[in-house]
Amino acid sequence: MRIEIIGAGYVGVVTAATLSSWGHRVTLLDINSERIEQLSRGSVHFYEPDLEPILQQQLAEGALDCRLFPHGLIDQAQIAMICVGTPGNMKGHTDLSQLEAALQGIATRSAPEVIAIKSTVPVGTGRKIMGDLARRNCDSMVVANPEFLREGSALYDSFHPDRVVIGVDQPKAAAMMQELYNRLQAPLVITCPEEAELIKYASNAFLATKISFINELSRFCSNWDIDINVIARGIGLDHRVGTHFLQAGSGFGGSCLPKDLKSLIGQAATLGEGAVLLRAVQQVNESQRGWIVQQVEQILGNLAGKTLAAWGLSFKAGTDDLRDSPAIDLISLLIDKGAQVTAYDPKVAGSSGLPAGLVMADNPETAVVSADLLVLLTEWPELINMDWQQVGKLMSGSVVLDTRNCLDPEIIIKAGLIYRGIGRAMQQGIPITYQQVKKGLG
Ligand code: NAD
Ligand code: UGA
Repeated sequence: MRIEIIGAGYVGVVTAATLSSWGHRVTLLDINSERIEQLSRGSVHFYEPDLEPILQQQLAEGALDCRLFPHGLIDQAQIAMICVGTPGNMKGHTDLSQLEAALQGIATRSAPEVIAIKSTVPVGTGRKIMGDLARRNCDSMVVANPEFLREGSALYDSFHPDRVVIGVDQPKAAAMMQELYNRLQAPLVITCPEEAELIKYASNAFLATKISFINELSRFCSNWDIDINVIARGIGLDHRVGTHFLQAGSGFGGSCLPKDLKSLIGQAATLGEGAVLLRAVQQVNESQRGWIVQQVEQILGNLAGKTLAAWGLSFKAGTDDLRDSPAIDLISLLIDKGAQVTAYDPKVAGSSGLPAGLVMADNPETAVVSADLLVLLTEWPELINMDWQQVGKLMSGSVVLDTRNCLDPEIIIKAGLIYRGIGRAMQQGIPITYQQVKKGLG
């Protein structure tokens, strides 16, 4: 099929690579000329495993091209897929200006048979767009086709989705969307546009709820000196609960879970609904970062002048995305308390988006030199698998605070270090004082 994709961010680039590799002829468009130029050379402006080789292959085979929006819009597109950003504000209002600008360009210049909205949009947006297009005498059919990929495994998710959700009124548009995805074995959920839009928010809100649930329990565990990872496994093996998204840590971040939760609460408010559960999920998440800072203070006392090493800056492993990263918030809180923080991340370079006062190291070893405490903020495999004996020798203190519960405490303890996690049993006794930390009492 002849496809145009509007918005060359995480979703747009991954979708373009996937659809072109299935044999569709794809044109990817963006208003950012630098981005388009870079993509046309086969280089991606963000880190996503395995994406560049497939992009380069599709460009070389002529299955994909990248163009500036709106001039590069094509006349004969069957489906235009909108993948622009839909950021939110503090009050939970969703900013649809990128979407409106994209639609205006499409409606006036290319009028494809189907416009599929992959961006995450509030319930009722698809229906409103149908009305707007009709007023502009554009007869494109509108479909809500939310995206569920995760950063860091975006290509895998795009090729192996758990389901494809298509919110559509017209049978012809439904048939075209089915043809678009006919390579997939995944179940198709064909609904009305409003249901498709809510499925997207409900999925992210439910995942956020699981995370806040386990994070709240992790605080109980640290008081009882029992291990949240054991609790998560014990409940997760019940198939009705499931093991996924029960990893306690620094709370959920990234460009979507916090934003979409906030938006759903905002949408509920316009209905006069309090969204009590969703607000609680948000509160637990926001307070988790402060709670972790308190753990650091319990260990080191007053943080003024203390030297901390921070490993990992992105909101999770497998991406260089810093949007709403718990790591960034935590580092800012620590710096505000007077700590000197040196950080390392395998994929984050430069200083854009980083807290003022943060020192960046070129490698993990340099970051820990003379550190009173090491805080692991992102679960990068290369950081988990460090030579911990060497880390112990380089540090001045000896506590490793694992905010992702991803380290094996035994390995850390064997290296002569003190292990602390989030709600994990403290095999080495509590409380520990700063003097003990300096002496390295394990
Ligand atoms: P992004 O910010 O990475 O990319 C958006 C792109 O759209 C940018 O390159 C921007 O220049 C471009 N753009 C803005 N206005 C434009 C216009 N008028 N015409 C053409 N291009 C324009 O966003 P993203 O992370 O890919 O997310 C896109 C949407 O998908 C959002 O609604 C998001 O909530 C949703 N989503 C994101 C993910 C994810 O993992 N990032 C997953 C599922 C759904
Ligand atoms: C999330 C959803 O998982 C995707 O299905 C969805 O498409 C996407 O949002 C979106 O709408 O943009 P993503 O933001 O890439 O994907 O990341 P997740 O893997 O969901 O992780 C989100 C946050 O929760 C991260 O900060 C992660 O570290 C944290 N998390 C995740 C936990 O703290 N514990 C867990 O058990 C799982």
